[in-house]
Amino acid sequence: METVLAKPVADLDYEIFQKHVKEKTGIDLSAYKRPQMERRLRSLAEREGARSLREYVALLERRPELVDSLRSRITINVSELFRNPDRFLDLQNRILPQLAAQHAQLQIWSAGCSYGAEAYSVAMILEEMGLAHRARILATDIDEEMLARGKAGIFSLADVRNVSSERLRRCFVSTNNGYQVADRVRSQVEFRHHDLLKDNFGRGFNLVICRNVVIYFTEETKRELYNKFWKSLTPQGVLFIGSTEYITQPYKLGYESIGLFFYRRIPQVTEEN
Ligand SMILES: C[S@@+](CC[C@H](N)C(=O)[O-])C[C@H]1O[C@@H](n2cnc3c(N)ncnc32)[C@H](O)[C@@H]1O
Repeated sequence: METVLAKPVADLDYEIFQKHVKEKTGIDLSAYKRPQMERRLRSLAEREGARSLREYVALLERRPELVDSLRSRITINVSELFRNPDRFLDLQNRILPQLAAQHAQLQIWSAGCSYGAEAYSVAMILEEMGLAHRARILATDIDEEMLARGKAGIFSLADVRNVSSERLRRCFVSTNNGYQVADRVRSQVEFRHHDLLKDNFGRGFNLVICRNVVIYFTEETKRELYNKFWKSLTPQGVLFIGSTEYITQPYKLGYESIGLFFYRRIPQVTEEN
């Protein structure tokens, strides 16, 4: 049996560090892929002047204001409106019409929404399709700062690079520091704090969008999350994942692939299976 003493110092260092991170931020690092995360955190520690993770923990004790930069280093909030535009076209032309034909009301969940780019992209599409009044979009994330940005709906020039000039004109108001989503579109999205690793998952969603989030998690956590999303979806509900992601053997989790990065909950499979 492996004893604590038999572990390499670096492993022990990281395990102790994980405990501190959980205490300080509530984030459970053990579910995130270690090599990538450790690299990111060691480089942050170094930038703050610490020579090891232990020193970094001591620094965080002395200077609690550094916890915010630690949290944003972990959460990786990169996003943009209509990220991978061809996938949003497919969503608009194929997936949403199918869902709208099946359901009077559409319940949509953007999980790991960062500052809301994904949720607002869907809101704009729904408006164009004349479906806004039949849809509710929930956008959740673990990072309060990003949720506040999402609620404000302000986007930089870089964020809007995939937004057509027609959409920019119709759905945004130009501001000093970029573009703000029009109130009408903002009111379609509800932002809420939710930790995918510890909070309960809602039910009855026709579309769950979780893109570029599970890539940071271990294989085991990833599969657990896909299983929980399955339970959150209505029969034939659709899971939309990121363009560098795939689900291996989706049928084992009760999904069928219905095109690049879209998976449908197989209707015949019930929760007991
Ligand atoms: C790279 S962004 C993806 C944003 C958006 N989905 C997209 O593809 O453009 C990853 C997001 O996942 C969030 N995240 C990380 N761990 C999370 C967790 N345990 N629960 C909920 N959100 C989490 C981060 O805060 C971050 O905003």
